[in-house]
Amino acid sequence: MAYETIIVEVEDHVATIKLNRPDALNALNSELLGELSEALAEADGNEKVRCIIITGSAKAFAAGADIKEMSEKSYVDMFLSDFFGKEGAAITSTRKPVIAAVAGYALGGGCELAMMCDFIIAADTAKFGQPEINLGVMPGLGGTQRLTRYIGKSKAMDMNLTGRFMDAEEAERAGLVSRVVPAKQLMEEARAAADKIAEKSILSAIACKEAVNRAYETTLSEGLLYERRLFHALFATEDQNEGMAAFMEKRTAQFRDR
Ligand code: CAA
Repeated sequence: MAYETIIVEVEDHVATIKLNRPDALNALNSELLGELSEALAEADGNEKVRCIIITGSAKAFAAGADIKEMSEKSYVDMFLSDFFGKEGAAITSTRKPVIAAVAGYALGGGCELAMMCDFIIAADTAKFGQPEINLGVMPGLGGTQRLTRYIGKSKAMDMNLTGRFMDAEEAERAGLVSRVVPAKQLMEEARAAADKIAEKSILSAIACKEAVNRAYETTLSEGLLYERRLFHALFATEDQNEGMAAFMEKRTAQFRDR
């Protein structure tokens, strides 16, 4: 499908979605978030795709929700459209693993979009922040909720209340990103991680993703039970037989997603 604000490439088993509003530092407007939701649903439904990467440009992953689009809105507009509620739900309902490859600014909705992905690989140029408070508002796509779960209350309060930016090194220390790589190697590293994930059984990958996400939604004992039941369920798959046989036969497993 042809999109105006994103570029989608599927190569081997990996779909890469590049946010593409360079003149607005990839600010997230309704069109972009609508197209991103569609592209994710398409990649999720494409049997060939086993992992998805969302990325931006060298200067900006995304500099936030589009302030120009929002500036004319009233409370009633925001409330009745449930502004970005539908898009946020569509993005986080993607079942296949999604990696955010972040260089440059990931601010406001940009930081929130990165946090909706399953993990974040950051270039050493990345800068994260929730500067909505400078606009007389506050985060609306997870900056007070997901960020707090990622980095804890004290840092989340600091980021939300001061609106300051966090560099990649601090973001890694705080647990916001899984790794930091030199900017020039960002896509290579993200692609290598995606290729590694694509080698696995998609059944195990989806189960891992669902179980990790469950850790944010439930108690420890419920989460452990959920994990154990999914673990048990994977013993009904051919890929479990194959994975364990391959280990014992000292060969690489050939998973068939069955
Ligand atoms: N919305 C709309 N346009 C944006 C934008 C945004 N969030 N961020 C940058 N742009 C536009 C600028 O208006 C500018 O366009 P023009 O050339 O037409 O004026 C272009 O992108 C380049 O930006 P700058 O000239 O400002 O670039 P810079 O290098 O001087 O500064 C920056 C970069 C620090 C990221 C700065 O652009 C900035 O502070 N942007 C806004 C960041 C922000 O406040 N984000 C939060 C948005 S609210 C939100 O996200 C709510 C939510 O939780 C859902």
